Amino acid sequence: MQEVFKVPNHVGFIMDGNGRWATKQNKPRNYGHQKGAENVKNIVSLCFERGVKVVSLYAFSCENFGRPKEEVDKILNLLQNFLNKYIKTLIKNEIRLVVSGDISVFNDNLKKSIINCEEKTSKFTNRTLNIAINYSGKQEIVFAVNNLIKKGCEITEASIQQELQIRDIPNIDLVIRTSGEQRLSNFFIWQTAYSELYFTEAFWPEFDEVELNKALIWYSKRERRFGKL
Ligand code: FPP
Repeated sequence: MQEVFKVPNHVGFIMDGNGRWATKQNKPRNYGHQKGAENVKNIVSLCFERGVKVVSLYAFSCENFGRPKEEVDKILNLLQNFLNKYIKTLIKNEIRLVVSGDISVFNDNLKKSIINCEEKTSKFTNRTLNIAINYSGKQEIVFAVNNLIKKGCEITEASIQQELQIRDIPNIDLVIRTSGEQRLSNFFIWQTAYSELYFTEAFWPEFDEVELNKALIWYSKRERRFGKL
């Protein structure tokens, strides 16, 4: 009998190791971010080609604001360029773009690009690219619970789910973290309660199709019981 290859519905990437990858080759850290940003398009496209419906990316955590201003500016600039460069591709391929996190602190240009991309792709329902920027998983839950308290609603798993920033995003099936670190670092902690966690030593700029295939094959062999027998 032919084996069935299970494709995850929702894959989350913690794109780690840009800085170390660059330092290893005597290049500035920002060069690593640039190569990391270039890799995003390839990996996201491959995921959708393989049948994944939702891809979430950890592009910038709230904690990342603690980095030197020059590095923060560079990462935010790469994000802006990414949105401007790929808006047409997203529309052509009918991919909805959503941003998780507090974008109010960003400059007007970046805010406008994000809102423009979200609006122009909001009608697409089949595939979603969810980019976490200035995002904190704990903050997302605190915000949801506070909203429920203000509305006088009961706090239940279902009601919290309904108050999450992107409430229609399904739970994450597979988290892939690059660069050998083995933690979630506040990445969608509500949505990863039952995720399979895959860690690879590869740094994000070198995470390629071969690496992605390894992760998807590993996932396909996992038996997910969700606490049942
Ligand atoms: C982690 O590497 C990476 C980041 C904090 C930023 C990720 C951003 C990008 C890949 C570019 C923009 C994103 C998109 C979606 C276009 P690190 O700097 O923490 O690496 P290190 O642990 O080796 O220092």
